[in-house]
Amino acid sequence: MKNTINVQQSIWLNTENSQIIEIIDQRFLPHQLIIEQLKSWKDSEIAIREMHVRGAPLIGVTAAYGMYLACLEAKNYLKKDSFFSEVATTLKASRPTAVNLAWAVDRQMKLIRSFKNGTELIAASLKLAQQISNEEVENSAKIGQHGLALLQPLIEKKDGRPLNILTHCNAGWLACVKHGTATAPMYAAHRAGVPIHVWVDETRPRNQGARLTAWELSQAGIPHTVIPDNTGGHLMQHGLVDCCIVGSDRTTRTGDVANKIGTYLKALAAHDNKIPFYVALPASTFDWEIRDGVKEIPIEERNPEEVKFIQGLHEKNIIKVLVSPAESPAINYGFDVTPAHLVTRLITERGVCQANETSIHELFPEY
Ligand code: MRU
Repeated sequence: MKNTINVQQSIWLNTENSQIIEIIDQRFLPHQLIIEQLKSWKDSEIAIREMHVRGAPLIGVTAAYGMYLACLEAKNYLKKDSFFSEVATTLKASRPTAVNLAWAVDRQMKLIRSFKNGTELIAASLKLAQQISNEEVENSAKIGQHGLALLQPLIEKKDGRPLNILTHCNAGWLACVKHGTATAPMYAAHRAGVPIHVWVDETRPRNQGARLTAWELSQAGIPHTVIPDNTGGHLMQHGLVDCCIVGSDRTTRTGDVANKIGTYLKALAAHDNKIPFYVALPASTFDWEIRDGVKEIPIEERNPEEVKFIQGLHEKNIIKVLVSPAESPAINYGFDVTPAHLVTRLITERGVCQANETSIHELFPEY
């Protein structure tokens, strides 16, 4: 472990040893910046399951590198087919909602099945993991440009005053590889000199908004304010939100959007107040197999302790404190589904579309 960071990037290959993948261990941000080394496929599985890394695109990229690490380890195993199947199944089960995970693992499995020679496979698997990572970087950059164009009429209406954007959870570069999805249009606007201000939902129980989005925006010098999760509706009623932009963990071919728990309530409030509700996502986040998000998207249920305890900094140490009575039961659904009719537009790397099957199909006719 070391304590320096190179760029605004969440995952990279160690520059001296191509058998090591490096990540930011996001559990300790914003108070400690810890770089973790992944040296085995199991390290990558633990990093995903225990949320050292999180966010749909980054989960996918970490799994792609995890499959590469498995290729390095496979030379020690006689029964390679069953080994790779077990690795793939275990990785896919580590976080069930973000579909990018299965998408990346399946791409690697297709490659693995097509190779007989282990040495060539290792090189090809690394190349594919890097390709998946680079694709996500490019997709995020394009989402930023398309998102900024979509925001233009709202920006013009503000006549030089800051555009107020509300976001939920962290769909920034920490959740992707670079740029982010929901944050990409914000970074693009900021770079273009457009004044913006971001309302950052704290995003209980793990506070990805208060910890990660606020940290990212601080680093970028973008004005922002952290708000309790239940404040958005009030702000919207008082004209203090111009639009919402969130990310997604899985979106159906019909436009239903699974995202961090609480997203649905923001979409309802936005709908009631006639405020545009935008969802930014790359193609890897679409689940082309399903139509009904509420019925068909698996919702991860996490440890209730995450609800009962809260983590923060106390006298230079990161500690956890109990919020509720120790004996009270809690429940911890990780995601909810916002039905397509509450989504104003989807922002993808191929452009902007309506959240319905026809419009999505026009952008992605091959699926
Ligand atoms: O549980 P997490 O932190 O992995 O959830 C992340 C989110 O819900 C993000 O909003 C989503 O993955 C989009 S990330 C670009």
